[in-house]
Amino acid sequence: MCGIVGYIGSEPCMDIIVEGLRRLEYRGYDSAGIAVVEGGALRSARSEGKLDNLVKKLRKEPLTGQVGVGHTRWATHGRPSEDNAHPHRSGTVAVVHNGIIENHVALKRELEALGHTFTSQTDTEVIAHLIAHERKTRNAPLPEAVFAAMKRLVGAYAIVVVDASEPGTIVGARLASPLVVGLGQHENFLASDVAALLSHTRDMIFLDEGQIAVVTAARVELRDAETFAPIPYRATHVTWTPAMAEKGGFKHFMAKEIHEQPRAIADTLRGRVDLENAAVVLPEIPLGADDLARVSQIYIVACGTSWHAGLVGRYHFEDLAGLAVHVELASELRYRNAPIDERTIIIAISQSGETADTLAALREAKKKGARIISICNVIGASIPRESEGTLYTHAGPEIGVASTKAFTTQLVALHLLAIHFGRLRGRLTDAALRAELAALLHAPALVESALPREGEPNPYEAIARRWHEAHSMLFLGRGNLFPLALEGALKLKEISYIHAEGQAAGEMKHGPIALIDERVPTVVINPLDQHFAKVRSNLSEVRARSGPVILIASQGDDEAASLAEHVLYLPDAIPPRLMPLVVALPMQLLAYHMADFKGTDVDQPRNLAKSVTVE
Ligand code: G6P
Repeated sequence: MCGIVGYIGSEPCMDIIVEGLRRLEYRGYDSAGIAVVEGGALRSARSEGKLDNLVKKLRKEPLTGQVGVGHTRWATHGRPSEDNAHPHRSGTVAVVHNGIIENHVALKRELEALGHTFTSQTDTEVIAHLIAHERKTRNAPLPEAVFAAMKRLVGAYAIVVVDASEPGTIVGARLASPLVVGLGQHENFLASDVAALLSHTRDMIFLDEGQIAVVTAARVELRDAETFAPIPYRATHVTWTPAMAEKGGFKHFMAKEIHEQPRAIADTLRGRVDLENAAVVLPEIPLGADDLARVSQIYIVACGTSWHAGLVGRYHFEDLAGLAVHVELASELRYRNAPIDERTIIIAISQSGETADTLAALREAKKKGARIISICNVIGASIPRESEGTLYTHAGPEIGVASTKAFTTQLVALHLLAIHFGRLRGRLTDAALRAELAALLHAPALVESALPREGEPNPYEAIARRWHEAHSMLFLGRGNLFPLALEGALKLKEISYIHAEGQAAGEMKHGPIALIDERVPTVVINPLDQHFAKVRSNLSEVRARSGPVILIASQGDDEAASLAEHVLYLPDAIPPRLMPLVVALPMQLLAYHMADFKGTDVDQPRNLAKSVTVE
C-alpha cells in the first residue's frame, strides 16, 4: 500500500511529484523518495519518516529534471529507513513499487551471482536490477526490458520505471495493484491513485491487470504483459473531488477499508501457502519442531479489536495444534503473576505495534523467559522490534480509527500460524493441511461475497434507518462466533455511540436477558454451524420477551425470515473455521451504516485514538 507518482513532460517535475505524493501520504508514510533524470543522469533523494523530511532535503538541494518518479512507502519488506526507501536504483534505472514480490529472495541470489550489488532489504530492489540487466545484456529498450523483467516476477505489484539512458519514456506496469495514467497537454502522469493527479488532469486511463503503459510526453501506449501486443484503450473522465479520491470514492476511510478486505487478506496469504509441499511458509517465525515440542502453552496478548482476534485464534490453536491457549487483555496480564515460563509462547497481536499495554505485557513475559512472537501490521514498530519473530499482516495503512481490515488479516495470520504449529507438532497430515490451506486461499473470495453488491438494495441501510435511535443493543454468538459478538458490539459503540454488549449466547439467561424489551434490538449470529440449534433457542428467548432481532443467517435457513425483523444472509458454503472471518463483515457494516445514518464522525470517533501509546 505505497503511493506512486510519475511524470514526463516539459515542466520541472519535482514539485509536481511531491505535491502528488502529499495526496498519497495516507497510503504510506514511513519513508519517501524521488528520482529524476537530469542532464542525462539519474538524481535522487530519499528520507525516512514523513514526506516533510524529504521536502526539507529537496529544499536544500532541488532536483530540476523533467522526467521522474516518486514514492511514499508503507514498508512490507525491510524496515522503514533511508536505504529501504524507494526509488531503488540499478545503474541508470530507477523503480518505484507498490506491492509484494514473492520470489525476491531467489531473484536476488541469481542477480548477485551475476555481479549486482544490493543496498536495501527490500523486495523492490530486484526489479531495478532485473530491468538494468535486460537493458545491458540484451540492449532492450526500456519497455521491453520491463516486459522481460515482469516475466520473472511473482507477486502483486504496480511499478513505474525511469531510465536516465532513455529519458524520453517512462514505463508503468500493473499486476494486481492499481495504476493509472493521467493525460495532460504535452505531459503525462502515472500514479497508484487518481488522488495524486486531480490537480493536473481528470482524464485517466485505468490500467487493467497485466498491462504495461509506455508513456512519453506526447503519447501513451498500452501493452499486454503476456504478449507485449498493443492494447487499445479509452480514457475516463473522473469527476471525484480530491477528498473522495483519497477514499477511493467511498464516503469514509472505514468504508474503503471494509471493502479492501479481500485484497488485504490476499496480501496476508501471499507467498505463505505452499500447497504442493503441504507447508506454511513462515521463515520469519524462528520456532521449529523442537521448540514446539517443548512448549506447554500459548498466551495471546492484545488490546481492543486485536484481543478479539486473539479470542478467535484460540480456537485455531486448540483445534489445529492441540495447544493450551490463554487469551489475555494486555492491561490485565502485565500486572498478574501468571505462570509464564520458558515453555510458554507469547503471541502479541497489535495492528500498530505500539500499544503501550501490549508492549509492557510482552516485556514482562520476556523477563520470565517466554518465547515472543507477534502479529503486527506496521513493519519495524516497537512490538515487532522486541519480538523474536513477527508475522506481518500486510493489510496496508489503516486510517479509520475503528479497526476493520487489520482485524480480518489478524484472523488470517493467526490461522496460518496455527496450521504451521499444528504441522510442527505433527498434528496435521499432508491431506488435512492441504485442505485447511485450500480453504484459506478461498477466503478473499468468500469475504468479497459478503460485501453488499452495487445496484442491489443495501440491507444495512434499512436496519440503520430503523434502529439508529436505539439506546442499547445486544450481540449474541457462540463458539468461535462469541468473539465476533464482542467485536460487533465494540464496533457499534466505537463509532455510533450506541451502548452495545457482546455476549456468549449461552450466558443470556444468567443476566443479560433482563435487558430485553421491544426497544433493545439483539443481533443474533446464528449460521448453520454446530451451535445452530442452541443459538436458535437463545433467539427464541429474545423473541419471547418482545425483543427485536437482527439475524445473521446462512442461505438455506428457511425459518430465518419469520423469526427476525431483519435478516442478513451470509454467503454460501463457509467452512466452519472461516466463519468468524466472514461474520466480521456484517459486524463492521452494521456499525458503519448505523454511524453513517446518525452522522457521527466515523473515521475519527470521539475520545478514541488509533494508536494508544500510554497506559
Ligand atoms: C485502540 C484502537 C483499537 C485497537 C486497539 C489496539 O483502542 O482504537 O481499534 O484495536 O487500540 O490497538 P493495536 O494497534 O495494538 O491493535
